[in-house]
Amino acid sequence: MNSPLEAMLSKRGKRMYFPSAGILGQSKEAVGSAVNATIGMAFEEDASPMCLPCVNSVGLPLTSFLYAPSFGQAGLRTAWSEMLLAKNKASLAGKAYSLPVVTSALTHGLSIAGYLFLDEGDEIILPDLYWDNYDLLFEEAYGATLTTFPMFTKTGAFNVKGMERLLMGDGDKKVVLLNFPNNPTGYTATHADEKAICAALKRVAKAGKKVVVLLDDAYFGLVYEPGVSTESMFGALMDLHPNILAVKLDGPTKEDYVWGVRVGFITFGAKGATAGQYGALEAKAAGIVRGSISNVSSLGQYLLGKAYSSPDYDRQKRQKYNTLKKRFDRIKKILAKHTAYASSFVAMPYNSGYFMCVKPIGVDPEALRKLLLTEKYQIGVITLSGLIRIAFSTIPLDKLDTFFARIHAAVQELRKQ
Ligand SMILES: Cc1ncc(COP(=O)(O)O)c(C=O)c1O
Repeated sequence: MNSPLEAMLSKRGKRMYFPSAGILGQSKEAVGSAVNATIGMAFEEDASPMCLPCVNSVGLPLTSFLYAPSFGQAGLRTAWSEMLLAKNKASLAGKAYSLPVVTSALTHGLSIAGYLFLDEGDEIILPDLYWDNYDLLFEEAYGATLTTFPMFTKTGAFNVKGMERLLMGDGDKKVVLLNFPNNPTGYTATHADEKAICAALKRVAKAGKKVVVLLDDAYFGLVYEPGVSTESMFGALMDLHPNILAVKLDGPTKEDYVWGVRVGFITFGAKGATAGQYGALEAKAAGIVRGSISNVSSLGQYLLGKAYSSPDYDRQKRQKYNTLKKRFDRIKKILAKHTAYASSFVAMPYNSGYFMCVKPIGVDPEALRKLLLTEKYQIGVITLSGLIRIAFSTIPLDKLDTFFARIHAAVQELRKQ
């Protein structure tokens, strides 16, 4: 692989390869043999896959119990690639990106990205409000450091200047992580933010820095307000400058409401990248899969492949989106109507995703969380970074009014103590 992509890889990432020879290669060569005795699976006397009937109690095709390729099932990879294009028409049309490699959902995809791009002591630049598992994923596992900038400006826009300042700091290689819709805030970059982020990253790349942009698109598609891009930043970033490599981590976990199915994707995009370079990145990602979990659940891949070819998929997905959007709209209405709540908490900017956050005023967020758990209030929330995170993805519409009324009441009660 040639620079600048070469320069972006970690030492481990540079070494990693997919073992096309060896057992996998020899098995591939034997496909079509009258008797193929190469693979470590077991087949019946009639050559069908062995399977205990009690395991297959729901009657799935027996092939869904066989090993999947380390790259992922070919049909699912193509389907996801086509879906990426369909969901990001304006920004991806006509652009060449890698074929997605199947991961065991986003956490695993993020870990693969860490393996490929982070050496011990490297830094990941990201907003200060982030999914806390990044600590384990990048700091504990790869010895990287999370360097944060305040996520919002005083006016509630994405803090592009804060991001750029860190990117322009010492060192030629930079890794930045963007997560829209964001966990915990439920914020997605507005059109104006997005324009500013792209301009900033271009300036950084023009200054000679090699920039890996990790895009955690876990909550992709769940945007509820106008003025906010419904497309991933992947399309805009991947052909911005040859010094920028966009790495998209996404999957059905949150988008298609299959949290336990454990299927996701890692996709690469860079200006001027050749098919050979994309192939090399895909092979490195698949090599990591091969050397860690070997391959991703066939069952999960089978189920999703079926869903994506269903004529009802889009309609059913829209229904779930509408359920979440109604809750979002209701929260906006509740907070607008009950102006008294503003004396108890301030809502952080939110426009998308599963979550929103409020900042309690004049009380300790942890004390508030504990009080909310008591018999009187019976509400469970998360505290982080001085905020209360509310997963409205879990709250039925008719419980939202009481939910916010109780938070307000609990703040007031704490104030009196
Ligand atoms: C921002 C973000 N990224 C990734 C994940 C993990 O996704 P998965 O379950 O697909 O590993 C989560 C889950 O909470 C998340 O909030």
